[in-house]
Amino acid sequence: MIHSFPESLALGRGLARSLGTRSASIGVHQFPDGETLVRVKPSEGTLAILVQCLHNPNAKLIPTLLASDALRRSGAERVVLVAPYLPYMRQDAVFHPGEPLSQSVIAGSLGRSFDHIVTIEPHLHRTPRLGDVFPCSAHAVSAAPTLARWIERTGRGSLVVGPDEESAPWIRAIADLAKLPWVVGRKERLGDHRVRIQFPPLPKCSRAVIVDDIASSGGTLSVAARALRREGISTIDAAVVHAIFAPNALSRIRAAGIRTLVSCDTIPHETNAIRSLAMLTSALRQLLT
Ligand code: R5P
Repeated sequence: MIHSFPESLALGRGLARSLGTRSASIGVHQFPDGETLVRVKPSEGTLAILVQCLHNPNAKLIPTLLASDALRRSGAERVVLVAPYLPYMRQDAVFHPGEPLSQSVIAGSLGRSFDHIVTIEPHLHRTPRLGDVFPCSAHAVSAAPTLARWIERTGRGSLVVGPDEESAPWIRAIADLAKLPWVVGRKERLGDHRVRIQFPPLPKCSRAVIVDDIASSGGTLSVAARALRREGISTIDAAVVHAIFAPNALSRIRAAGIRTLVSCDTIPHETNAIRSLAMLTSALRQLLT
């Protein structure tokens, strides 16, 4: 049975339909003191799948842990978390003395509460395998084939652009699938909202599509677009997986001259144009068999 938090109900129902199982919604009550109570429907069968979109993570993580406990107490022997977006994965090092290893704290709490975690394109940098981050088993679904299909349909003749060097294997995989040339920039982060990006000499091209796993402040996409425009590329589109989009991010990106901006629906947003249902269904099918 698939149990979904209210915001993820549409995805939960879609997964239930695709997998031929039943879907239930999780009740969430907010007490006046800020604490949360969740209530799950009695689990049918011994496997429960919990669907929760974990953007705005600080508000969502505690209800997610509580729901896992509730599912086990109502009969589930195995509880799987489907979190299309996994937060805190970028804080994968102690960058300065006195800071926590946030990735490990969050992965530890989730991994002790769930038997298996399924997500899409987690931002892994220093720890390449999701299974090494979590104490439970975990599966990272690649959005590369789905993004490549979108680019094939809409970005014919484009140069596929990754904003930073770490994205090179992913960008190359997407470009190879779409049979297009690719390039990555060298990105330096100057602050939460500011980045500097330099590109190597670009092949002759009038169109580009920038591909990134996350758009948050919009700094990366807008700085990349301006740099490409300076190199003579006149038509620039962008596709991202996780549409976090902080306030003002969209206007910043549009002001940089990005023509079409799309995202996967891992986080509900007006730019959602690429559905994640098929990717998650096939990952769950694999897990269930
Ligand atoms: C970072 O390395 C990621 O791949 C994204 O490029 C980054 O998270 C985008 O953030 P922002 O929109 O704030 O520049």
